[in-house]
Order: sequence, then C-alpha cells, then structure tokens
Amino acid sequence: MKKILVTGGAGYIGSHTLIELIKAGFEPVVYDNLSNSSPIAIERVEKIVGQQISFIKGDILDVELLKQTFKEHNFFAVIHFAGLKAVGESVSKPLKYYENNVTGTINLLNVMQEFACQNIIFSSSATVYGNPETLPITETAKRSCTNPYGQTKLTVEYILEDLCKSSQFNAISLRYFNPIGAYETGTIGEDPNDIPNNLMPYISQVAVGKLEKLSVFGDDYDTVDGTGVRDYIHVVDLSKGHVKALEYLVTKDGEKVGFDPVNLGTGNGTSVLELVNAFIGATGQAVPYVMTGRRAGDVASCYASCDKAKTVLNWTAEFDIKRACVDTWRWQSHNPNGYKS
Ligand code: NAD
Ligand code: UD1
Repeated sequence: MKKILVTGGAGYIGSHTLIELIKAGFEPVVYDNLSNSSPIAIERVEKIVGQQISFIKGDILDVELLKQTFKEHNFFAVIHFAGLKAVGESVSKPLKYYENNVTGTINLLNVMQEFACQNIIFSSSATVYGNPETLPITETAKRSCTNPYGQTKLTVEYILEDLCKSSQFNAISLRYFNPIGAYETGTIGEDPNDIPNNLMPYISQVAVGKLEKLSVFGDDYDTVDGTGVRDYIHVVDLSKGHVKALEYLVTKDGEKVGFDPVNLGTGNGTSVLELVNAFIGATGQAVPYVMTGRRAGDVASCYASCDKAKTVLNWTAEFDIKRACVDTWRWQSHNPNGYKS
C-alpha cells in the first residue's frame, strides 16, 4: 500500500480527499497545523471510512518535524494542500502569505528531495489565469495574478517548474476552479472561520439564518444575466481528481513526468443568480439577496477546458450543481456552526 503525505489534510478539500484515497487503496498520513481546520474533521472521516488515520499536528514551516515525518514514513508522493487562502487577508498581510505558502512549500520540497520523494500534487488555482483572454481556459493560457494569494500559487508553480527541469521531480499542479458541496453523509464540509468570502458558503449561511442576506457583487457584467460566471465543481469530484493524478504517477513510476498543470473543473459556467436559484430549487430554502457593486479584482467569467484532465488523468466531473446544493445544505443544516456545532 503506497503511503501519501497529505499536508493540509484536515481542511475542506483535504478531508474529502482522504476518503477517496482510502477507497482507492492508498494510505494517507495527514500533516496539518490546524490553523484553519478542526481535528473533528479527521474524526468524522475516520467514522466514514471505518478506520484510523495517521495524523501529525505539524507546520510546514517546521523543517525538523518535516524531516522526522519523512524519516518515519516512506512516502510515494505528497499531496500538498497546506496553505492560507483568504484573498482579502493576503492583501493586508502579504508576508504571512508568502511565508506560509511559498517558504512552507520550499521547506517541504527540500525535505522531499533529501528523502528522495519526488512526486508532488500541488493545490493550485484558477486564480493563476487572472483575467482570462479566452474561454474555456486551457492549461496553456497566459498566467497572471492580481493579489498576493494568487501570486503565492503562481510562484510555487514557477518553483515546481524549475525544480522539475533540474531533477527527477514530478509535479502535477491541479488548478482548481470553484470547489463547492460536501460529502453525502453531511458530516464533513466547508467550515469558514469568519464571514465567508466565497459564494456557496455565504448562500448556505444565509439559508440557515446565520447571515441576513447575500450581496450579489455586480449585475452589469457581460454575462447571461449580468452576474459573475464561474465553474463550480463538487468537492468529491475534485477529490477524485487527486486520486487520478496519483494513479497517473503510479503508472508512470520511474518515467519522468516533470511539471504538468491540469485544470479541475466541470467546463460549465454558472452565474451567481443561477447558483442562488439552483440552491433555492434544490433545497426549498429562501435565500434573500440584494444587488451591490462589483468586488475589486473579480473577473466576469471563468470556466475550465477539462480536455486535458480527461485525456491525461482519465478524470471527468460527475456531479452537477443541484447535487452540490443538496450536499452543501445537508452539511450546513446539520452543522449550522460547522465543526463547533
Ligand atoms: P483549508 O483552509 O480548508 O485547508 C488548508 C489546510 O492547510 C487547513 O487544514 C490548514 O490548517 C492547513 N495549513 C495551512 N497552513 C499550514 C501550515 N503552515 N502547515 C500545516 N498546515 C497548514 O482550504 P481548502 O479549501 O481545503 O484548500 C486547500 C488548498 O487548495 C489550499 O492550498 C488552497 O489555497 C487551494 N485552493 C482552494 C480553493 C478553494 O476554493 N477552496 C481554490 C483553489 C485552490
Ligand atoms: C475567489 C478568489 C480567488 C480564489 C477563490 C477560491 C477573489 C477576487 N477571488 O474566487 O482568488 O482562488 O475565491 O478561494 O476573491 N460573489 C457574490 N457575493 C458574495 C461572494 C461572491 O456575488 O458574497 C460572486 C463573486 O463576485 C463571483 C462569484 O460569486 O462572481 C464567485 O465568487 P467566489 O466564491 O468568491 O469565487 P471567485 O471569485 O471565483
């Protein structure tokens, strides 16, 4: 059984990925400092999969603990979720973001190199495409970023590219579009610390009565109804994409893959109002909203070309928006205060 180090494995996407890894026969070891997650997420995953999961409370800035972890385990690969992701905070505290996301990743890569673990799957983001020139966005599109969070993702991609050129390292950079939804049990899901920045958790917190109303950021974009269009992907589909990426590396074992970016999205664009209406239709809940001005840094439309994921990884998203709304609501209504409920 191949061991996989999962940094940030207690977080939203990480916790869902643990389930798919175990289902596929991999043995995950979680390394997370719990700065944006709860140990309850791991306990809930253990209940879902019916087995214990190795967990190390550790920071990727702690090189000694990283070394100790690699000494104790022989990892086939690392899935590197650990990172800070709040765009607004990254603007006010850029050093915190560069240190955590870039220095932390360099530490991890140094230790991987020292212990001859040369396969990494990196959590990148559609944010690296900035304001896309053409849609759907392919992996060869020009990259640019408008905020420090995005810059950290882009910087790590450049580092991985250089490292892969100079060595036997393989790096699959999974560029996520907009992850939403939750596991079907309703026991794990997205648990934002403060008022959510992202659309889906905001909608579900309005529906559950924690927030009064949704502000729709702009209705004058050149889109189907004037509101922003994104590619919302169910977190379970996204998690399965990580397993497919790992399996790809397993089949290529020994053969050099190098740096390979792959979009994980559905290929479908959904507007803000379409998502709100899908949520209302799927759950029967009211979601009051008001139209407000555009949010700084937002683009009109962003959705993926998923051809490469299909041809290279043999992966396609299966769940639709309706399913994601139902699953989000099950999680939110059963856990109105997230893991604190
Ligand atoms: P999350 O905050 O729920 O999970 C990240 C996890 O990393 C958390 O458990 C946190 O405690 C941990 N972590 C942060 N810094 C750490 C450090 N220095 N050492 C050890 N652990 C640390 O976020 P998520 O939504 O699950 O996102 C996972 C990854 O995917 C992140 O890198 C994020 O930037 C990226 N991503 C997320 C989205 C999204 O919309 N959720 C989109 C694109 C990319
Ligand atoms: C945002 C980040 C992006 C990050 C991604 C995942 C910005 C500018 N972009 O992307 O860098 O990778 O989250 O964390 O912050 N919306 C509303 N009302 C709300 C919230 C959102 O109308 O309360 C709209 C937005 O204007 C957008 C859509 O909903 O049109 C989706 O927003 P969001 O969920 O924040 O994702 P992104 O903007 O795609």
